[in-house]
Amino acid sequence: MEQYISVPRIGVYPGSFDPVTMGHMDIILRASKQFDHLIVAVLNNLSKNALFTVEERKDLLRKMTADIPNVEVDSFRDLLANYMRDKNAHVIVRGVRTITDFEYELQMASTNHKLNPDVETIFMMTNPKYSYLSSSLVKEVAHFHGDLSDWVSPEVGQALHQKVKENGGKK
Ligand code: COA
Repeated sequence: MEQYISVPRIGVYPGSFDPVTMGHMDIILRASKQFDHLIVAVLNNLSKNALFTVEERKDLLRKMTADIPNVEVDSFRDLLANYMRDKNAHVIVRGVRTITDFEYELQMASTNHKLNPDVETIFMMTNPKYSYLSSSLVKEVAHFHGDLSDWVSPEVGQALHQKVKENGGKK
């Protein structure tokens, strides 16, 4: 009789997470149910200047995901395709908010597949109540001391207001 070895299904949810929002959390929660192990990986998007350091972003993500046992938070400075090899992972998870996200996501998925043909990207539709949300939007509202409570956790809100104070009004 043929024997099958069951391999744990590892999903990787990469992003800038500067900072993590409820929209990201919606994807993390739902994706954690589809994999044995989900790695939330903070990577660099070279076209963005981050407000939070990688360690700060990881720290906030760890606090937010502390109650989800199969979620790990990590970071990587190199290509996502190489990270996938390092982790022996084959599935990238991305959240899609609107049709405008799609073109960019298609480009990334195709590039990652070209760089690492063992990798597939799967897309999850963001909950419509967060489809207009972005980390830039919450940073902008924080800059003007607006109410963030519908979009980020109290810890993230506090960290954002603290950053605004430290930066003396600069974003
Ligand atoms: N709900 C609400 N908002 C969401 C969301 C969701 N479910 N999913 C994403 N967003 C928002 C984010 O807040 C972010 O907002 P911002 O642009 O204001 O910061 C935006 O959508 C997209 O951000 P994110 O999902 O974090 O992706 P990104 O485009 O910043 O990062 C990386 C993409 C980091 C995965 C990519 O650049 C990467 O892989 N870098 C490593 C180097 C590499 O391999 N490059 C080649 C890639 S092909």
